[in-house]
Amino acid sequence: MKREKITPPGAYPAVRLRRNRVDAWTRRLVAENRLSVDDLIWPVFIQAENGAVAIESMPGVERLGPDRLIDALGPAMDLKIPAVALFPYIDPALKTPDGAEAVNPDNLVCRAIRSVKAAYPDLGIICDAALDPFNSQGHDGILRDGAILNDETVEILCRQSLAQAQAGCDIIAPSDMMDGRVGAIRTELDAQGFQDVRILSYAAKYASAFYGPFRDAIGSSAALAGDKKTYQMDPANVQEALREVALDLAEGADMVMVKPGMPYLDIIRAVKEAFGAPTFAYQVSGEYAMLKAAAAQGWLDNDRVVMESLLAFKRAGADGILTYMAPEAAARITAG
Ligand code: PBG
Repeated sequence: MKREKITPPGAYPAVRLRRNRVDAWTRRLVAENRLSVDDLIWPVFIQAENGAVAIESMPGVERLGPDRLIDALGPAMDLKIPAVALFPYIDPALKTPDGAEAVNPDNLVCRAIRSVKAAYPDLGIICDAALDPFNSQGHDGILRDGAILNDETVEILCRQSLAQAQAGCDIIAPSDMMDGRVGAIRTELDAQGFQDVRILSYAAKYASAFYGPFRDAIGSSAALAGDKKTYQMDPANVQEALREVALDLAEGADMVMVKPGMPYLDIIRAVKEAFGAPTFAYQVSGEYAMLKAAAAQGWLDNDRVVMESLLAFKRAGADGILTYMAPEAAARITAG
């Protein structure tokens, strides 16, 4: 994207930039970026038990049981949100150190994929490849003697991805940050006849404190032993993000993601400019919690900060945004 030419100094009073801001229709005409419903991906939390459970640290977000999921996605369908990302809360009794439940073809995620596909064949379904919902320590990989095992984890991620593809998942999103997982998953999917299942790589995923409320939602925070700094990226780094993205694209990623969102707009810009590949931003749980908490106090205007925070991703170069605010943003865009 090219920046507008800077007007030479001294051009005032002939040049007055405020002229183009005089009225709403002019502002609309000259707007450089626009948020569309087509840009939105809605992350949705699911649980095995019927009913819905409110997530305390994410006001307005609920974990949905099988009896509620399809109805809850109705508005997203009506508003034409292109895709949802499903995140499971797994019964603690099913969690193990190797996260084996992740590869069970009849686990909560696979059951949900089948029911959503049956109800809404045209809605895109995205699922993580990562062990954290299934791992008893809340880690994304297999933990042994205090270390996360890379290659053993990649193997189980391939089986998890295959199970999800077989259930009807359209996009596998490896969110684990193991080395080599995109290529391994691509090879496995291709070998099993799933050439068209896409890979959205969490390519530049930082070891961030902004994921706290998400871990509450999927029930992994209480158990989390230590942090994820041996596999997620150091928030200090930019060049490393470009290397991560380069590798994932070379290994066959169709789309890449930067995560978290708002504190990492510089990374989105750098990735988009360097590769030009479909680039997504994840406005994560902690960003949602911040904005909603301030809005609930009356300190911020909810409707305006929601739209402004999402537009910022477009300006930074993102092609799309994973956001818990997708339904309210889509409703507002549609209303005009
Ligand atoms: C799991 C995963 C996380 C998120 C998405 N997938 C958390 C983590 O890495 O601990 C975070 C999303 C959010 O905070 O909204 N690999």
